[in-house]
Amino acid sequence: MYDFKPDDSLETGERYRQLCDAADALTSDEPDAVANMANVAALMWEFLPDLNWAGFYRVGAGKTGQDELILGPFVGRPACIRIPMDKGVCGAAASSGKVQRVDDVHAFPGHIACDAASRSELVVPVLRDGRTIAVIDLDSPEPGRFTAEDAIGLEKLASLLSGRV
Ligand code: SME
Repeated sequence: MYDFKPDDSLETGERYRQLCDAADALTSDEPDAVANMANVAALMWEFLPDLNWAGFYRVGAGKTGQDELILGPFVGRPACIRIPMDKGVCGAAASSGKVQRVDDVHAFPGHIACDAASRSELVVPVLRDGRTIAVIDLDSPEPGRFTAEDAIGLEKLASLLSGRV
């Protein structure tokens, strides 16, 4: 049994340090990408408060052969399965290779609502050899839920996962 439940009083930086340590422990010796993303989605859900969705989209071939984002392991409500690389917050993160931190999703042009409860969102690309291979997506029902510290913490997690998802 794994028991990674974090202390409620942890400050954000320490919370992400512990999350990254737990993710490292669970994925370092496991070559299966789906198993690794599934466990990391569960860890993000355990460690990060006030979320309504936490998970992955992977870059893969669409029906016309063009790259698009394809739903990966997550915790939350069933979500959009395929997202074009130029659509939504996830597409913006994937195509730019840059973190997207959105305080108010209703003000983001092209935001894709997978759960009407979502109010803010943080999307971080997972890069390998300079190319986006996946994104980590966090949604919250609270406006402005994600700080710059959340973005830094999630980027560390994304970098740890580069060769493992
Ligand atoms: N809101 C995202 C779509 C994915 S869901 O939030 C799970 C977007 O605009 O890309």
